[in-house]
Amino acid sequence: MINLTIDEKEYEFEDGMTIYEAAKSRDIPIPTLCHNDMIKPYGACRICLVEEKGKPTLIPSCSTPISPNMIISTNSDRVKRGRKFVIELLLSRCPESEEIKNLAKDLGVDTENAESLDLVGTYLLKEAKPAFETKCVLCGLCVRVCAEITERHALGFSKRGIIRKIKTPFEKYATTCIGCGSCAYVCPTNTITIEEVS
Ligand code: FES
Repeated sequence: MINLTIDEKEYEFEDGMTIYEAAKSRDIPIPTLCHNDMIKPYGACRICLVEEKGKPTLIPSCSTPISPNMIISTNSDRVKRGRKFVIELLLSRCPESEEIKNLAKDLGVDTENAESLDLVGTYLLKEAKPAFETKCVLCGLCVRVCAEITERHALGFSKRGIIRKIKTPFEKYATTCIGCGSCAYVCPTNTITIEEVS
């Protein structure tokens, strides 16, 4: 067993859990976008950030294993600022996504007037808008469920940088797709549809 302090309370957990799993088992809420119990955590969205005492940066709780005597804060001002910054970046990328807007509101962001839009969003929303007409947050859950669970490899990442996308091989209909719909099922922003890939 591992002793851990979360939000100033001490707990004991089984070895092998992540911080997110440990917190969830005690009903301590941590927001997530790219976490799915079926799929190995990958730490893509960074919404689940928490603070570990003594660490210089915030850490993703979904992909960080617990270790003895960790002292974790899930709701400190620094954590709130970190999550807010991340959701504002996602909001800049996916301004039409209801899921992102709702999560942003839950994290205390004014979706009509997000502070960070002045810093990064001006470029993202105005200059690079064509590349960002999407609801996809590039968490890769669809790619991973297709590869790791159904083992069909019908989806993958294409291109790099701000024009990175999730696509079928060569952007054609995927012949390996069995139409199971698991990609659409795990998508946190309801972006992907089965019609697109099969
Ligand atoms: S839920 Fe942890 S990084 Fe996305």
